[in-house]
Amino acid sequence: MKNSEALFQRLESSAPLTGAELSAVLALEDPCDLDRLFRLAYEVKTRNVGRLVHFRGLVEVGNVCAKDCLYCGIRKSNCNVRRYSMPREEILSLVDAARKARFGSVVLQGGERSDPAFVDEIETILREIRRRSDGALGVTLSLGEQSGDTLLRWREAGATRYLLRVETTSPELYAKIHPAGMTLADRIAALKRIQDAGYQTGTGVMIGLPGQTLRNLVDDLLFFRDFDVDMIGMGPYLPHPDTPLTQANPGFPPDSERQLLLGLKMIAACRLLIPDANIASTTALHALAPDGRERGLLAGANVVMPNLDDPKYKREYNLYAGKPNLDDGMEECLSSLVARIADIGESVAWGAPGDPLHFYSRIARSR
Ligand code: 5AD
Repeated sequence: MKNSEALFQRLESSAPLTGAELSAVLALEDPCDLDRLFRLAYEVKTRNVGRLVHFRGLVEVGNVCAKDCLYCGIRKSNCNVRRYSMPREEILSLVDAARKARFGSVVLQGGERSDPAFVDEIETILREIRRRSDGALGVTLSLGEQSGDTLLRWREAGATRYLLRVETTSPELYAKIHPAGMTLADRIAALKRIQDAGYQTGTGVMIGLPGQTLRNLVDDLLFFRDFDVDMIGMGPYLPHPDTPLTQANPGFPPDSERQLLLGLKMIAACRLLIPDANIASTTALHALAPDGRERGLLAGANVVMPNLDDPKYKREYNLYAGKPNLDDGMEECLSSLVARIADIGESVAWGAPGDPLHFYSRIARSR
């Protein structure tokens, strides 16, 4: 009997997965085993959330950032970035275009700012989006660590989901990739404030960081389960030339197909672990291979976040090297994506807000 047969029998029995089994999943290398893993995760996805892809229109509202994360291209000390804050009218017109294109939800993402002018501005924008859409459009925020008070204000103004990646759940690795003063404990406390404020809560990690072990990734997966997150957005780590982490690790990572496969294995493991979560097939997968996002969907993901920005901003919101479709506007990006999704036998859930089913099962359990 093949080594992996016993593992697959456990995975196929839908028994709760142990750390050792997750570790064995992430260590799979044989192409037939990987194929079997992705098929199984796809089957679990189909059974729990259907063969539907939920689109979130991504608006990158600004690249001004108060933080100095050692891996990120828009870190505060990178002087090579032209900073922008997208004017309110431009944000609103992208959101209008998303609604016209029948998107069920949008994501406002940007560098971390907590100054009062920014907090007020986001609140105003959220109220205006709700007014224009009659509350029918799902709005996700991805704006970094915020106070409980700010989170409540934005929640009351109409945001229903919030994404804050923990980046890694290893305190040592977290300390290595962030400047002094940023701690994993603070990050997790910020995520807890999001959950406590009543948001559908999303998190994630970077995969394939220098110094990251498979054990670290298993701990990340167990954290997602134990924190009871509703949404997961993970992606391969991609070096950005102007960052200290890249400069300290020249030539890393050596192999992009391996990075991509590890990303896909993490998606599959998440789907097996939290069958009713919303799991994103992220842009970083697309940066590694032209069909990276479709491969993510076939490994268990059910959400894609097409970028709505005008190319003039896209270029400046550069978290890592290799961001795809920099010169394309919304229409070009969308038509090829929709065709690719049809090619793999899935369809876009046009117009549906696409709340994570896990949110409702979590709320029902806590009653
Ligand atoms: N490679 C991959 N992902 C990155 N992010 C930031 N920098 C990089 C990078 N170099 C991710 C972080 C952050 C999200 C918005 O972008 O996980 O939370």
